[in-house]
Amino acid sequence: MIYARIAGTGSFLPGEPVSNDDLVARGIDTSNDWIVERTGIRTRHLAASDVTSSDLACEASRRAIAAAGLQPEDIDLVVVATSTPDCIFPSTAALLQAKLGIRNGAAAFDVQAVCTGFVYGLTIAEKFIRSGSHKRALVVGAEVFSRILDWSDRGTCVLFGDGAGAVVLEASDAPGILATALHADGSHHPILCVPGGVASGQVIGDPFLRMDGQAVFKFAVKVLGEVAHEVLADAGVQPETVDWLIPHQANIRIIQATAKRLGVPMDKVIATVDRHGNTSAASIPLALDLAVRDGRIRAGQRIIVEGVGGGFTWGAALLQF
Ligand code: ACO
Repeated sequence: MIYARIAGTGSFLPGEPVSNDDLVARGIDTSNDWIVERTGIRTRHLAASDVTSSDLACEASRRAIAAAGLQPEDIDLVVVATSTPDCIFPSTAALLQAKLGIRNGAAAFDVQAVCTGFVYGLTIAEKFIRSGSHKRALVVGAEVFSRILDWSDRGTCVLFGDGAGAVVLEASDAPGILATALHADGSHHPILCVPGGVASGQVIGDPFLRMDGQAVFKFAVKVLGEVAHEVLADAGVQPETVDWLIPHQANIRIIQATAKRLGVPMDKVIATVDRHGNTSAASIPLALDLAVRDGRIRAGQRIIVEGVGGGFTWGAALLQF
C-alpha cells in the first residue's frame, strides 16, 4: 500500500508586520480595540505592489523542499492554492515551477477553493501519490489578498494579510494522511465573493472582496465543526487523541467556537491569526510551518487541518505527522 506523508514544511511572510494602529495611521476609520475584540488580529503582512503570489510561494517552497532534504528537481507535482494568481494564465503553479527551476516535466496546476484551497490541494496531491502516479508533491497556499481588498471598506480590509505556506508530500510505506473530506455549496456565494469578471480586456463589475461578516461567521463555525468530526469518524479516531487542531485562521472567535464544538482545548489549537490576519489559502500551511519550526508539532503527532472559504467550500484532513 502507498501512503502520503508530509516530509517538509516552509512558509514566507512579506515585509514587516503592519499593526492595527498602522492601519489607523494610514487613514482607515477603525481602532486597535475594535479589531482585537472582534477578530483577535493584531498585525498582518502586506506585500509590496511588485510582489506576486508566485514570489511568496517560491520562498515558502524553497524552505519546504530544504526541510524535506530534497532538491527542486525531486518534485514531480506542483499544486498551488490561490485566489490571487499572478495572472489569468498560465497558472501560478507553472510560474512557481519555473522560478524553482523544476525542468523535469513535473505536472503543475492551480486550485481555486479560496480559504479551503490548501486542504483541497493537499487532498488532491494525496490522491495522486496514493495512485502511484507521482512520488513527491509540492503543495502551496499563496495569496496577496491585499490586492483584492477595498481599502475604504473597514468591515473587510482590516481582516486580511498576504503570505505563503508550503509542504512537500511524499510517498511513504506508513500512513501520513489518515482521512480527508472536501465539500462545497455554491449557493452561498453571495455572502463572500469577489463579484467582478474579465471581459473585453478589462475587469467588468466589482473587483473587490465583499462579505456578509455575520453570515460567514455562522456558516464557518457550523461546517468547521462538522467536517472535523467527519474525518475523525472516517479514521476511527477520538477527538481527545488529536494533538493539534489547525483551523483556517480567519477570526479567533471562529477558532474558539470550533475548538469548543470539537471538545479540543485551546492549548491544543495552533492560532496565528493574531500575527498574520486571514491569509486565505496560505493560513493553514503558514500555521503548520510555524508550529513545526517552534517545536510544538513533532513526528508521530496527530493533527487536524481544516478550512472554510468562499464558494462556499470547506474541508479537513487528519494527519499523522
Ligand atoms: N472598525 C471599527 N468599526 C467597524 C469596523 C472596523 N474595522 N468594521 C465594522 N465596524 C462597525 C460597523 O460599521 C458597525 O457599526 P454600526 O453598529 O454603527 O453600524 C459595527 O462595527 C458592527 O458591525 P458588524 O459587521 O455587525 O460587526 P460584527 O460583530 O459582525 O464583526 C466581523 C464583523 C469581524 C467581520 C465578524 O462578522 C466576523 O468576523 N465575521 C467572520 C468573517 C470572516 O472571518 N471572514 C473571513 C473570510 S471568510 C473565511 O475566511 C472563511
